[in-house]
Amino acid sequence: MNPGKRLLAAAQAVRENRLTVDVGTDHAYLPAYLVLSGKTKHCLAVDIGVGPLQNAEKTVAKYGLSESVRLRISDGLQSVLPSEAEDITICGMGGTLMTEILSSCTWLQKEDLHLVLQPQSHVWEVRSFLLHNGFCITDESVTEENGKLYITIEALFDGKKRTPSAGEVYFGSLLFSTQSLAVRYCQDRCRQLTVRLSALQKAGLQNEETDFLTSCLTYYESSK
Ligand SMILES: C[S@@+](CC[C@H](N)C(=O)[O-])C[C@H]1O[C@@H](n2cnc3c(N)ncnc32)[C@H](O)[C@@H]1O
Repeated sequence: MNPGKRLLAAAQAVRENRLTVDVGTDHAYLPAYLVLSGKTKHCLAVDIGVGPLQNAEKTVAKYGLSESVRLRISDGLQSVLPSEAEDITICGMGGTLMTEILSSCTWLQKEDLHLVLQPQSHVWEVRSFLLHNGFCITDESVTEENGKLYITIEALFDGKKRTPSAGEVYFGSLLFSTQSLAVRYCQDRCRQLTVRLSALQKAGLQNEETDFLTSCLTYYESSK
């Protein structure tokens, strides 16, 4: 099967032969691809919705994966045991929801737990959560699919709590990447920050948001 460039980027970031849990799986394309490509033998695919899990059932039936891809209703990781997860993928949802899912999991701070995350918005909230909560961001990359850019973040729990700056959470390591899509992504983000900041300044505002935007832009400029 061809999962598309975006999900392929997530699949590539998953470690081999680990207990993998895909949260918000919908059609279960990612778990199906992980098993069919030989990356993992078993995958647990969870979703909060009945409809998405019915979609997942169709994929599992189509590829004959009922032994290797287990399906379960779960709000985030609430119905997943820590012993079931070594790698966790969460893709295709906003960064705010993703951060809520991660922060409401009581066992997330587990040695060697590896996360593969593709937040579709508010990426900085995800980075901030990870860094403040004992995760080291080990890699970030940008993928283009249908003209849209997607960030894939890999993080490993090492227990060290970090205090990143606004610029570090906003751009992550992408700011120092030479990957052309990462350069384009950071330039796009910089433009958006500039537009937002000048709108707020024109309205005569100076608040937490303008301070955040100013710090991010200063960080961006100083990296050039
Ligand atoms: C847009 S789909 C993404 C599907 C797939 N992961 C992908 O990247 O293509 C988002 C899925 O997340 C599920 N979802 C939303 N909130 C959730 C939560 N709290 N726990 C589990 N799944 C959730 C939705 O039901 C939906 O199926």
